[in-house]
Amino acid sequence: CSERTFVAIKPDGVHRGLMGRIIARLEDKGYSIVALKLIKPSKTLAESHYEALQSKPFFADLVAFITSGPVCAMVWEGKDVVAQVRKLIGNTDPLTSAPGTIRGDFGVDIGRNIIHASDSISSAKREIELWFHTQDLIEWNPTLHEWIYEK
Ligand code: CMP
Repeated sequence: CSERTFVAIKPDGVHRGLMGRIIARLEDKGYSIVALKLIKPSKTLAESHYEALQSKPFFADLVAFITSGPVCAMVWEGKDVVAQVRKLIGNTDPLTSAPGTIRGDFGVDIGRNIIHASDSISSAKREIELWFHTQDLIEWNPTLHEWIYEK
């Protein structure tokens, strides 16, 4: 299959009603959702997701925030999707994200930056496995013109 990335609309984005507009931007670009769920992550899941940031002073706040409400967890698929989605969402700090990017258009606070997306192909693989079961991912087969469900 082509490249996949993990994307999560954080509790602030869900609460503010931005899910539809964010999904539309990624669909407009030409990418497809292959898995989606609304989930209030456990502390364990959040800590594993952000394990590389364990030593940061904001780690506890970050985990508290991401577990504070529903997250829209998704897997997106398409050509160069990891790097392209990072471009579409903008810099981590919404104050330095360009207008036209998701964070640049919808936020002002680094701790409430609306959305997360995997920063590399290897993080994407790790994060997809952390948040989803293999059987939750669907695959479009362009040759057969039918949806294929993984066993
Ligand atoms: P995200 O893409 O989810 O990856 C790590 C997150 O840590 C990041 O988005 C921010 O929400 C958060 N983060 C990074 N730097 C800071 C900071 N200085 N203060 C608070 N949160 C931060």
